[in-house]
Amino acid sequence: MPLSKIAGIGFYVPANVFTNDDMKQYMDTSDEWIQERTGIKERRYADRLGETTTTMGVKAATIAIERAGITPQDIDFIIFATLSPDYYFPGCGVLLQRAMKMKEIGALDVRNQCSGFVYALSVADQFIKTGMYKNILVVGSEKHSFGLDFSTRGRNVSVIFGDGAGAVVLQPTTKSGQGILSTHLHSDGSSAEILAMYNPGTHANHWVNEKVGSFDEAAIGQQFISHAMIDEAQLFPNMDGPAVFKKAIEKFPEVINEALQKNGLTTNDLKLLIPHQANLRIAQFVQHRMKLRDDQVYNNIQQYGNTTAASIPIALCEAWEKGLVKEGDLICLAAFGSGFTWASALLHW
Ligand code: UT7
Repeated sequence: MPLSKIAGIGFYVPANVFTNDDMKQYMDTSDEWIQERTGIKERRYADRLGETTTTMGVKAATIAIERAGITPQDIDFIIFATLSPDYYFPGCGVLLQRAMKMKEIGALDVRNQCSGFVYALSVADQFIKTGMYKNILVVGSEKHSFGLDFSTRGRNVSVIFGDGAGAVVLQPTTKSGQGILSTHLHSDGSSAEILAMYNPGTHANHWVNEKVGSFDEAAIGQQFISHAMIDEAQLFPNMDGPAVFKKAIEKFPEVINEALQKNGLTTNDLKLLIPHQANLRIAQFVQHRMKLRDDQVYNNIQQYGNTTAASIPIALCEAWEKGLVKEGDLICLAAFGSGFTWASALLHW
């Protein structure tokens, strides 16, 4: 049975740089607070009217497809991971299929937030291994900037997130020492509301009443969208940051070790860990806990913020472009986020 290899990789970030000082125009925050708590110096914001999650995905995909030495018409399946889709439905996969003039192939959207790319990669890996598809495009893209609360009320969430896209083309390989060795997917829905955007949705106050008692009930869930939701800022993401942080530093090492152990490998074998860029402090904690050297962990959250489903392919692509990832190198991708969901993938480049 063949394994899957990353045959091409690309990323795109918008030109517009938004610094921590720029944030201060809108909310009570400081460069010092943001850097100290998250490591973030700046992030990119999409052109408000000129760019969407899909158009950024198309840019990253175009590079990945070209680097794989194929054309968009050779792609036989699309998997698009995002939490900030152009439309509530249909998904970004079909919009990308249309924009790139691809054949009438399958297009699947994955809604697993920060671990969305690793989940998407895992699904693609299964289709390649079974021989069902030969050229799968996996995209992670986010336009967070359109949907954040830029008042002081939303500052714990809004300073973290940035826009961007990353993409890979997955193909079968029979070359020894190359390809995805294993993927590991997990979830724990008991904390679903800790990092969530409740509205618009069909929850009709199920779950939310019990889990998020502090909100005005009239403002949430009685209708799909209401004026009260807007007035009470219930159309923005909510996050209990410290609770997410605590769980993340537990689950990252667990899921990385799971991948290594499954393949009889250790951290000594690891060339590079690409953690989801949630918070530099989380990545540093994981590095310390796993006794990894600085050169074994790649971070770029300082420049791009947390780009959710896009963060891993952006970081992997940037590391590869810098020559930090070479043929045969053992790479681990690991993510944790809303759901909670967490995941890892171990591969030989
Ligand atoms: O990829 C998605 C998964 N998400 C994550 O992984 C996020 C994980 N969590 C975190 O990264 C951190 O919890 C945050 C960066 C979100 C927050 O850092 P923290 O050190 O946990 O701060 P905190 O939430 O405990 O807040 C400490 C203080 C509060 O003020 P008081 O109550 O102590 O007076 C906040 O109101 O910092 C305040 N604060 C801010 N101050 C300035 C919160 N956000 C800001 C801000 N600027 N942007």
